[in-house]
Amino acid sequence: MKGFGQDNEHFDGGTTEPRNDREGDVDMRRPARHRTLAVGVALLSLVAAVTVAVHAQQGTVSSSYGPTNQTLTFEQIKAGRLAVKEERARAHAELLRARYDLGVTTDPTVRMSGGKPVPVGPTARLSGTSWDGLGQMTPEQIRERGIFPYKPLPFPDHAEGGMLFPAMILKLLPRLTRFDLDFDLPEHVLPDPVPPIYLTTRPDLGDVSNGMVITLENYYATFNGLLNPKQLEGLRLLVTQFPQQQFNATEDRRTDRSDGMIGVTCFDCHVNGHTNKATHLVGDIRPQEFRHRIVTPSLRGVNVQRLFGSQRAMKTVEDFTEFEQRAAYFDGDHVMAAKKGVNVLERGSQVHFMAEFMAILDFPPAPKLNIYGELDAAKATPAEMRGQALFTGRARCSSCHPAPHYTDNDMHNLKAERFYKQALVNGMMMAHDGPIKTFPLRGIKDSPPYLHDGRCFTLEDTVEYFNLIQQLHLTGEEKKDLVAFLRVL
Ligand code: HEC
Ligand code: HEC
Repeated sequence: MKGFGQDNEHFDGGTTEPRNDREGDVDMRRPARHRTLAVGVALLSLVAAVTVAVHAQQGTVSSSYGPTNQTLTFEQIKAGRLAVKEERARAHAELLRARYDLGVTTDPTVRMSGGKPVPVGPTARLSGTSWDGLGQMTPEQIRERGIFPYKPLPFPDHAEGGMLFPAMILKLLPRLTRFDLDFDLPEHVLPDPVPPIYLTTRPDLGDVSNGMVITLENYYATFNGLLNPKQLEGLRLLVTQFPQQQFNATEDRRTDRSDGMIGVTCFDCHVNGHTNKATHLVGDIRPQEFRHRIVTPSLRGVNVQRLFGSQRAMKTVEDFTEFEQRAAYFDGDHVMAAKKGVNVLERGSQVHFMAEFMAILDFPPAPKLNIYGELDAAKATPAEMRGQALFTGRARCSSCHPAPHYTDNDMHNLKAERFYKQALVNGMMMAHDGPIKTFPLRGIKDSPPYLHDGRCFTLEDTVEYFNLIQQLHLTGEEKKDLVAFLRVL
C-alpha cells in the first residue's frame, strides 16, 4: 500500500475516484469529475479559467513516498477506508466472477500432503470459444478478440494494497484481521490451513507439526530437542510479531485490535514454513497500478534454490529475510519503516539463525520419484508416465523445470502480454509481468493457486496457461496426462 493520504482521492472532498474501469475496457478513462470540469470550462471559454483548472487538477504530486507526517487521526483514516470498502469489494468480486468459475470442485481421491482435497479446473471462464479452439489461435488473434483467460490478477483493492490474510488463518489468528479489506479467493483453491512440516534433518519423522499452526505459544514445546539451539532461536524469530505497514501502533494502520498493533510474524503468511497464500503487492514497482499482486510462496526447499523473490532475484535466503522485514513489510519505503517501528535484525545472530531454520524445511515426500527425481516406472500409472514423457519431450516444460527439484533456478520472461491489451482494470494496469522466477514444482499440488499472483487456481489452469504461452496445441488427453504427472511431483 501507499500509506494513507497519498492515495488522496479517498479524501478529496469526500469523492472517490470512479472505479468503473471494468474488465474488458481498453481505454483509460479520465475520472468523471475531471470530465465534468473540462466541459464547464469549455462552455465558459475562459483561458484563465482553464489554467486555474489545470493547476487544480495537478494539485497533488504522485510521490514515491508515503505520508509520514500524518495529519489525520486513526478514526478519520478508518472512516475513509470504510467509506469505500463495500464498493471496492463489489467491483473485485464482479471481476472474479467474470473471470472464474468459483464453485467448489475438488478431487477427493487426490489430496495435498496435509489431507485437503486438491482443487480441480480449469476454473477460468472462456468467452465464445472452447479450450481447444483457444489453443489453436495465435497470440495476436486472442489479443484482438480480448479473450485471454489468464490476465494479471488485481489485488482485492489494488489502489490500497498491503498484507491481506485468508479467512482460514484469521480463524486461528484473529489478530490478522483488517477492518478495511477481506481476502478474496475461495478456500477450496487455497493450501491446507495447517500444513505439515517436513525437515531435511529428520525425514524419518514425517510431519513434525503435530497438526498445529506453529506460533510463539507452542514452538518451543514442539521443537525443543528436535532442533539445534540456533535453529530454535531462528524459529522463535520467525513466529514473533514485528511492526509492518498495516499492523503497527501508529494512526496509519489497518487493524483496530491491540494485538494486531504489535505486528505480523513471518509464519503468519509462510504458515508452518509453507504458505496460506496471504497476498501483498510487490514492493519495487511504481506507480501503484503497475505493482504486481504477489501470493506467498512456500519456504519448502529454499535450501536448494538460488534466487529469491518472484521478481527480485535476491541471492540468498539471508538477504531475503532482511529485505522482507526491513523493506517489503513497508512497501519498500524505508522512511515509513522508520516511523512505524521497523525491527532491525542482527545479521550474524538473528538473520542467519532464521535462515538456518528455513533451510531445513523440506518438500513433502514424493514416493513415486526415484533418486534422479524422475518417475519410478514400477510405481507410476500409465497416465503419469505419459505426462512425464510430454513434460520432458514435446511440451518442453523441463527446459525450465528440470528434475530433481523441477526448477532451473533462473528467471524467464513468458511475455504473457502478447495475449492482451494494456488497460486499467479495477485500479491495476493489465501490463507485462517481466522476468519471473521459475518456481520449483516439487510438492506443487500442495500450493494452489499458482503463478506469482495466483491467477491460475488449479494445476489444470497452469497447463492451459502454458499450452497458450508456449503455443503447444496439446490435446485434451495430453493435458490430463500432464496434470497427472504434476500431482505426483
Ligand atoms: C504477506 C505475508 C508475508 C510475510 C509476513 C512474510 N512473507 Fe516472505 N514472502 C511473501 C511473499 C508474497 C513473497 C514473494 C515475494 C516476491 O515475489 O517478491 C515472499 C517471499 C519470501 C522468500 C523468498 C521465497 C522464494 O521462493 O523466492 C523468503 C525466503 C521469505 N519470504 C521469507 C520471509 C521471512 C523470513 C519473513 C519474516 C521476516 C517473511 N517472509 C514474512 C509473503 C510474506
Ligand atoms: C520458458 C520457461 C518455462 C517453461 C517452458 C515452462 N515453465 Fe512453468 N514456470 C516458469 C516460470 C517463469 C514460472 C513462474 C511464472 C509466474 O509466476 O508468473 C512457472 C510456473 C509454473 C507453475 C506454477 C508454480 C507455482 O509455484 O505457482 C507450474 C505448475 C508450471 N510452471 C508448470 C509448467 C508446465 C506443466 C510446463 C510445460 C507445459 C511449464 N511450466 C513450462 C517457466 C517455465
